[in-house]
Amino acid sequence: MLKKKKYALTFDDVSIVPGYSQVLPGETDVSTRLTKSIKLNIPIRSAAMDTVTEEKMAIAMSQQGGMGIIHQYLTPQEQAEQVRKVKRYESWIIENPITIEPKKTVGAVKKIMRENQISGIPVVENGKLVGIITKRDILFVENNSLKVEDLMTKKLVTVLKDITRDKAKQTLQKNKIEKLLVTKKDGKLLGLITVKDILRKEKYPNATRDSVGRLMVGAAVGVGGMKRVELLYKEDVDVIVVDSAHGHSKNVLNTIKQIKKQFDIDVIGGNVVTAKATEDLIAAGADAIKIGVGAGSICTTRVVTGVGVPQITSIESCSEVADKYDIPVISDGGIKQYGDIAKAIAAGASSAMIGGLLAGTEEAPGKKVLLEGRLFKEYRGMGSEAALEARYGPGRYFVSPKGKTVPEGVEGLVDFIGPVPEVLHDMVGGLKNAMGYAGIKTLKEFRKKTKLVEVSLGGQRESHPSVRITKEPRNYRAFPG
Ligand code: XMP
Repeated sequence: MLKKKKYALTFDDVSIVPGYSQVLPGETDVSTRLTKSIKLNIPIRSAAMDTVTEEKMAIAMSQQGGMGIIHQYLTPQEQAEQVRKVKRYESWIIENPITIEPKKTVGAVKKIMRENQISGIPVVENGKLVGIITKRDILFVENNSLKVEDLMTKKLVTVLKDITRDKAKQTLQKNKIEKLLVTKKDGKLLGLITVKDILRKEKYPNATRDSVGRLMVGAAVGVGGMKRVELLYKEDVDVIVVDSAHGHSKNVLNTIKQIKKQFDIDVIGGNVVTAKATEDLIAAGADAIKIGVGAGSICTTRVVTGVGVPQITSIESCSEVADKYDIPVISDGGIKQYGDIAKAIAAGASSAMIGGLLAGTEEAPGKKVLLEGRLFKEYRGMGSEAALEARYGPGRYFVSPKGKTVPEGVEGLVDFIGPVPEVLHDMVGGLKNAMGYAGIKTLKEFRKKTKLVEVSLGGQRESHPSVRITKEPRNYRAFPG
């Protein structure tokens, strides 16, 4: 006899009921809130996993209007360095740019350029700007011991911080240069404006940007990781995710409280699946709640521990409480088909976190594997044996005092599916079509008004094609069941 009977549903068990519509998918607005104060232009985030989100994925996600969360199985310094690279990837004014002294060598210039993937370095002597050395200045210089002062450009084009974008473009064009040196009124260097940044920004008008125009990025931390948080904070990370397999625990609540006390930053707490857990995380100070225990495509938590709650029911229970406090909830794990994103939002989530469906992209850090003539990418659970061994710090799973672990995930392969922008285009396209079917123009309304219906086993079977597929579409997966 069950102590408390409750029937729980997940994505496959429900379907969205269409409504009268005058809305075309192209007219819909899929912008949403990630946390109380961070806005996303698309409701998708890439998972904090070592085969999903490192800097490349984070940049691509943010450029498309979503966000990436850099995983925590790195040293704090490595993780902070990745955040730094995302924040510096494109900006309006690169503040505190890397500089070099005039007496340094060409060898040192080449090393800095290589390591930081930059093509120009302001030359500064005793705090005074004296030149700029760019890739063009040293293009065919083979003697690495030559001095910067003998090769740098001394005729400088400087501008003040309040220059407009149009004026900056005109100045770059007029002087036929690729970099503007931004100085204070006293001539001291303040930053750099580059053609590359201007072009990148114009190419991605939908990107998730901070108040000074840099791409936004999040980072995951384990319990008690205050040193890590400090390093991430120094690099201007936009949101910290306290990421645990069991977010409704004393250590997670204390970690959230401590971060909110020490730093002025948004914190996402999780993972949880109950109303009470949601309430406790909110009381601890969480600015958004992440939902999902055992739903992920690489998870074995529900099988090896018997614990977890199917995703749609979890989202409903948690969002009902979170709504009272105006805190967004994020559905994490279990998105197997693109339509599951719309279902997650209809159930009450404001955005979805995705692992497996992004692990197969070019930008994911997993290795490519050729198997029986087909290209795959490696994807593994953060609770898999290999990931637990490779972790740095507490990670997101229970570890016994002797360091013994119990795996709660598997290692596997996912189909290689090309670049992130194409995949996100399909995912967002599915969501926009769903909004068209529902006749609802904004995601905010879609989340509130969309009706879900429970689907029978026969109905689930009916939802999938029943012919032999001769051409696999990009946005449909026939696995697993
Ligand atoms: P999807 O379904 O998008 O799920 O691949 C990604 C989410 O799964 C969680 N995760 C795990 N859960 N064992 C688990 O029980 C694991 O090893 C594991 N690794 C990741 C996590 O929430 C992630 O975002």
